[in-house]
Amino acid sequence: MKDSHGRVIDYLRISLTDKCNFRCIYCMPAEGVCPMGHDELLRIEEIEAITRVATRIGIKSVRLTGGEPLVRKGVVDLVQALNDMPEIENISMTTNGVLLPKMADDLKQAGLSRVNISLDTLDPEQFEFITRVGKIESTLAGIDAALEAGFNPVKINAVTVRSLNQDFLAFAKLSIDRPLHVRFIEYMPVGTSTGSDGTGWGKQDVVPSEELLGIINERAREEGLPELVPAGNDDKPIGWGPARYFEFPGAKGTVGFISPLSRHFCSECNRLRLTADGKLRPCLFSDREVDVRTALREGGEEAVYNCFLEALNLKPDEHHDKVGTERNMSQIGG
Ligand code: GTP
Ligand code: 5AD
Ligand code: SF4
Repeated sequence: MKDSHGRVIDYLRISLTDKCNFRCIYCMPAEGVCPMGHDELLRIEEIEAITRVATRIGIKSVRLTGGEPLVRKGVVDLVQALNDMPEIENISMTTNGVLLPKMADDLKQAGLSRVNISLDTLDPEQFEFITRVGKIESTLAGIDAALEAGFNPVKINAVTVRSLNQDFLAFAKLSIDRPLHVRFIEYMPVGTSTGSDGTGWGKQDVVPSEELLGIINERAREEGLPELVPAGNDDKPIGWGPARYFEFPGAKGTVGFISPLSRHFCSECNRLRLTADGKLRPCLFSDREVDVRTALREGGEEAVYNCFLEALNLKPDEHHDKVGTERNMSQIGG
């Protein structure tokens, strides 16, 4: 189905929980967020029911997000239930990878199509600074487990924050020897994240993708490596998102850029979001939400369907460079 700006909406991002085993500085404040009450949270069967209705408006691809989706009890059963819906063509997940060594095989078996793993640095100390509580070995083990379980593609999400001085070339080179699709994401002003110096998001911390491509290519030349070139159609990984892909000639994977600020992709937006407490969110940057949880609990399927129509209607044309939202990224799921 199309929204009021003529965009086809076929992708639903479902946040399963606002809880997370990390506390990334770009995603939530240091003190964390007030957790959702038990009754506020959608039950797994309720998520299934809402997604079944979503297929009636044309949703074909579903992504499970968080917080950290793998800390939610019942996640494997949910994947299985989504896999049983013939209209859903692709089930993906965005995770920090920590629980993948334990869960990757079960998730694959249940029908999960692919995973995107968040990792912003290869430096163990910087990893601890960014995640506040994480150990880099746990996420690296998650990446190995995803490849071993046979997920394809496996994408790596790296949020770029200028003042962190991440080693971008080292990161891009992860795509050479293994089939990993590294994506650099511009740091977005969502919620009240801490940022690298405790003062929150600032424009000066955004590294525009064009500049980043230049930095990587310059560093590659210095090391005697070839430059990144636009990825051939056969090499681009399957996806429903906005990344633009490049590759090092002969590499097994690709390097992608997600540029919500420097080159926003709102005119191609194809998605709605469902929060863990049952609100349909038409745009990442807009706090206008539709209460589908109450609709389901008090009205049933037709009421849920009407919520989807309302959310389609409420989707704004673009984010208009809005800074800040009431919810943090961890409560929306990116
Ligand atoms: P695929 O391309 O299908 O693999 O997924 P994706 O890139 O949509 O999903 P992922 O959860 O890995 O998101 C990567 C980054 O893109 C995150 O930082 C998201 O917040 C960001 N992103 C995804 N959708 C939108 C959107 O509609 N608007 C904006 N501004 N950013 C988005
Ligand atoms: N800006 C850009 N990306 C972010 N993510 C979390 N917070 C931000 C932010 N402020 C990313 C995570 C994850 C994805 C869902 O969103 O790293 O990969
Ligand atoms: Fe958790 Fe993901 Fe936010 Fe990091 S980015 S704190 S892993 S929800």
